[in-house]
Amino acid sequence: MTEIRMRVNGVTRTLDIEPWVSLLDALRDHLALTGPKKGCDQGACGACTVLADGVRINACLALAVQYADKEITTIEGIAKGEQGTHPMQEAFVRHDGFQCGYCTSGQICSAVAMLTEYAAGMPSAVTPTTERIELTDDEIRERMSGNLCRCGAYNGILDAIKDVAA
Ligand code: FES
Repeated sequence: MTEIRMRVNGVTRTLDIEPWVSLLDALRDHLALTGPKKGCDQGACGACTVLADGVRINACLALAVQYADKEITTIEGIAKGEQGTHPMQEAFVRHDGFQCGYCTSGQICSAVAMLTEYAAGMPSAVTPTTERIELTDDEIRERMSGNLCRCGAYNGILDAIKDVAA
């Protein structure tokens, strides 16, 4: 067993875990944070997306011990404001950006981080240029391509992100 400390959703947590435990399993099984979902468990679907120091990662591919002393944010910690929801969550509701909801926590974490990346001037994911680009539909789709939705709610997800980005 290895003892690690990690800040999760603004609270410092101590975990006593085996060094091979994934961040996803640590969050779900040790900290009872079941917002991040286990879809493929191999980095292909994005259902497990969380933020590590504000950067989106697939928690199923990360070892928890690698993230000791990092700030981890899950969907449970992303909500804010008087309503207790993040504007991206509200936009997903307004635009029907989900059907079964299994991918939704990962989609929202990814979308929030994606807009931060865009605001920071990340180069285009579509066009080979270092110029600042418009956040077009294709650009959003490409930047969100790591998050799959088996229900096919992609149009609603796109509309929700555009709503928040506007
Ligand atoms: Fe992590 Fe699918 S469960 S990418």
